[in-house]
Amino acid sequence: MCPGSYDPVTMGHVDVISRAAALYDEVVVAVLHNPAKGGAFSVEERIKLLHAALADLLNVRIEAFAGRLLVDVCREAGAQAIVKGLRGDTDFAYELPMAQMNRHLSGVETVFLPGDPQLGHVSSSLIKEVAAFGGDITGLVPEEVRAALLLRFQSPEGS
Ligand code: PNS
Repeated sequence: MCPGSYDPVTMGHVDVISRAAALYDEVVVAVLHNPAKGGAFSVEERIKLLHAALADLLNVRIEAFAGRLLVDVCREAGAQAIVKGLRGDTDFAYELPMAQMNRHLSGVETVFLPGDPQLGHVSSSLIKEVAAFGGDITGLVPEEVRAALLLRFQSPEGS
């Protein structure tokens, strides 16, 4: 199980999901829909962008979830593990209590994969900020995401 907001998917996510797909028979990318958090892209848009980015990975499927615990989504899918990428200390500090809580709640293990150092500076929030001010995000997100962000920040409603 590779859970996240994916608002939007970055090359950092694609790297971790691809590596999970090489380790496990089947990978579920679980997109959290948190209405309170809003987000740049709707869950439908995020899923469309994930499909485009992960089209080559035949053992990966994408699902949305909302208003429930990740451990319940894992249980329902029969997931063996939650897989997360770690870019550094800050990610570890954020992820460790969640991993411990998820294990406390249901026994599910979290497997951490070291992030690709070349993508250590890539996060969905920084990507959106850089794109909003016209910065170049080529190579940091899938092409479909770059195009969607360009469109978003060019149109008057995106400003
Ligand atoms: O990409 P994000 O926003 O860092 O992902 C966070 C996510 C979706 C993994 C986390 O918020 C989550 O699991 N939410 C579902 C609700 C839940 O189970 N909360 C308790 C986590 S210990």
